[in-house]
Amino acid sequence: MIIKKLKIITFRNIEELEINFIDKLNIIIGENGSGKTNILNSIYYLSTGSTIFSTKESELPKFPNSSFFLEGLFNKDSENIKIEIIFKDKRKIISINGKPVSGLRELIGVIPIVYFNYRTKDLILREPEIRRDFLDNYISIMDKEYKKLIIEYQDLLTVKNSTLKKLKDERGNFYYETLLSTVNEGMYEKGILIQEKRDSFINKIKEMIVDFGFKDIRIDYEPKVITLQELNKIKSDEIERGFSLLGPHLDDIFFNRRGVDIKFLLSLGEIEELSLYIILSLWFIFYEKLKTEPIFLLDDLFETLDKNKIENLINLLYNLRQVIMTSFDEKVIPVELIKNSSTFFLNKI
Ligand SMILES: Nc1ncnc2c1ncn2[C@@H]1O[C@H](COP(=O)(O)OP(=O)(O)OP(=O)(O)O)[C@@H](O)[C@H]1O
Ligand SMILES: [Mg+2]
Repeated sequence: MIIKKLKIITFRNIEELEINFIDKLNIIIGENGSGKTNILNSIYYLSTGSTIFSTKESELPKFPNSSFFLEGLFNKDSENIKIEIIFKDKRKIISINGKPVSGLRELIGVIPIVYFNYRTKDLILREPEIRRDFLDNYISIMDKEYKKLIIEYQDLLTVKNSTLKKLKDERGNFYYETLLSTVNEGMYEKGILIQEKRDSFINKIKEMIVDFGFKDIRIDYEPKVITLQELNKIKSDEIERGFSLLGPHLDDIFFNRRGVDIKFLLSLGEIEELSLYIILSLWFIFYEKLKTEPIFLLDDLFETLDKNKIENLINLLYNLRQVIMTSFDEKVIPVELIKNSSTFFLNKI
């Protein structure tokens, strides 16, 4: 899979822009604030129909309360795929090859993408919610059933939490008691499937990370295992607290070295490197599953890693089908890389 052409109109700081990309390496160069990350974000948005890092959609148009337009021309096994997204009056219309799609599920997975940027390390450094979002976003790309499960589970969770609050005020209310059991059963059924899929996905990442040479780093999935017996046991506790205490919405991933959280052990550069290789793992996992090479977006790489780490990485990057990377300064990019890539200079607007 490659992106051949990107067109942007009034998205973030970009008024109007058209870029052609090549197979292999593309480098976007521009000073701070010129819009490099915005360009990568626009490609991510074309692929998923969603913003990355929960940016509000209303913040995407260049002018407040206005519209934007994105178009990507992609190529997969010599077949062209055109994705267009128009955002207008707080609504978005997505079309694939000129035909509007009815929901995001139709779009997700069509253009597989993996994206590394300065916030990827939050996966290791920050709260569990970020790890769960990471799992949900990336598993959805290769598994449409998973996306459906997550949406349905989330709906049940909302109903459950409001039912628990009602039961706290009206203990024993027959209607709410029945509703709670039904919702619990639904959450249990979907919950175990979600946890199975998360487990197998994390196992694949683990294997890849070992292959990349991170032999002493452990990635342990910590599911908040859901069973009907346990749900019964904690029922009165849940009613007392007014929210659900069991299930995949409380899962976590523990990145550790011999049981110690790596955020307290590794240097920032090492954490960046590991998070980059986690994203690289996704590239291989998607490739194996979807039989098409994902587009690799790499933001601010040269500001993150030292020379040695970059050299190791570059050898890997040459083997990927298409990489789009950014830098604020041409001088920090290895000359050999510039020679073998297409560079695009962005002027600050
Ligand atoms: N909705 C918007 N309308 C107008 N400008 C915006 C909007 N959203 C973001 N911007 C601006 O876009 C500019 C470019 O941001 P971007 O993050 O893409 O820069 P960058 O080239 O990646 O910079 P850096 O080298 O610092 O990473 C920023 O100055 C930001 O304030
Ligand atoms: Mg940036």
